[in-house]
Amino acid sequence: MSRAAAAFPVTHPTGAYTVTVGSDLLPNLRQIAGIKGDIALVSDSNVAPLHAKKIGETAVTITIPAGEKHKTLDSIRGIYDQLLAAGIDRKGTIVALGGGVIGDMAGFAAATYLRGIPFVQCPTSLLAMVDASVGGKTGVDRPQGKNLVGAFKQPIAVLVDISTLQTLPKEELASGMAEVIKHTLLDGRFTLPAPITDWQALVSGAIQVKRDVVQEDPFEQGRRATLNLGHTFGHAIEQVSGYAVRHGEGVAIGLVLAANLSARLGVCPPALQSEIETILSAHHLPTRIPADLPAADLYKAMWTDKKKAAGKLRFILLRSIGDAFITGDGIIIEETAVMQTLNALKTKA
Ligand SMILES: NC(=O)c1ccc[n+]([C@@H]2O[C@H](COP(=O)([O-])OP(=O)(O)OC[C@H]3O[C@@H](n4cnc5c(N)ncnc54)[C@H](O)[C@@H]3O)[C@@H](O)[C@H]2O)c1
Ligand SMILES: [Zn+2]
Repeated sequence: MSRAAAAFPVTHPTGAYTVTVGSDLLPNLRQIAGIKGDIALVSDSNVAPLHAKKIGETAVTITIPAGEKHKTLDSIRGIYDQLLAAGIDRKGTIVALGGGVIGDMAGFAAATYLRGIPFVQCPTSLLAMVDASVGGKTGVDRPQGKNLVGAFKQPIAVLVDISTLQTLPKEELASGMAEVIKHTLLDGRFTLPAPITDWQALVSGAIQVKRDVVQEDPFEQGRRATLNLGHTFGHAIEQVSGYAVRHGEGVAIGLVLAANLSARLGVCPPALQSEIETILSAHHLPTRIPADLPAADLYKAMWTDKKKAAGKLRFILLRSIGDAFITGDGIIIEETAVMQTLNALKTKA
């Protein structure tokens, strides 16, 4: 693959940066991102051994054990200590090489170390490429919940080297596809090729959907919340399953539930649900709630989701493909409607 890389400008409240999507970009990181000083590379224990060498010389390489359970303030403390030990100053640049966990943590470290130093994202999971690396949200989890501590930190550049997808485990690829499919539902201009052979085009299309949304609403005061389509249901499924259901799988089922609820409330045609199911199934994603997750428990779990506002559950509903909206004061979602949807989409035992 020696095809030309694609470049997408992203503007944000304090400036602009470019997302570059292409093959074998990592060896040209300094040039593409315009880095002159020290590089402090932050990666995880899976990705570093596979891809860190491509970046060439760094002042320090910080490797964090892989996994969401390490997305903590303790890991951030470790990053600060290693940056200090390596003498990284404000002329240095933190480079995140990994999935969304690494991007969120390296970004948070870059937002706070010496009150902020430059930051570059090199996402290596499909999810991080199409979702986490664009938009400037960074942070860590707390025992009380995910992403409860963080900051907005815009990168100076995002390098999406799609060659790194070759080593991504299949389940992680499927998980990222759930977010890609979500983006096709949010923006009717972006459609999936079938079969998928052109990953550069797929990733580029999905990134542009996210870019357009965050540019319009950088601080999530309105439309940006539509990126949570399927996530109120999805998070509840993940949580009640004790995280046996992965994030992307929860989101996939959540997309079906969102369509079912939308149709039940009369905002979209009933056929939309099966249309979405067909797409998800074609990408090996689930479309039904596992039989062992009680609807009442799922409903309860939704109330702990941070998207609840003013004592009301808020949902992202679909009028049609490309037309998602957030339920607000105008539309009250009764518990019975949500319970009917949860019961309708349970796997038959
Ligand atoms: N900041 C945002 O806007 C935003 C948006 C969505 C999600 N997120 C966050 O992103 C995280 C999820 O991201 P994720 O799914 O990338 O998780 P992750 O970072 O844990 O990566 C998933 C797994 O894939 C491995 N991996 C990544 N790239 C690889 C590669 N090329 N080859 C081999 N293995 C590879 C990782 O080591 C990990 O084991 C969550 O913490 C979520 O909160 C943030
Ligand atoms: Zn998600």
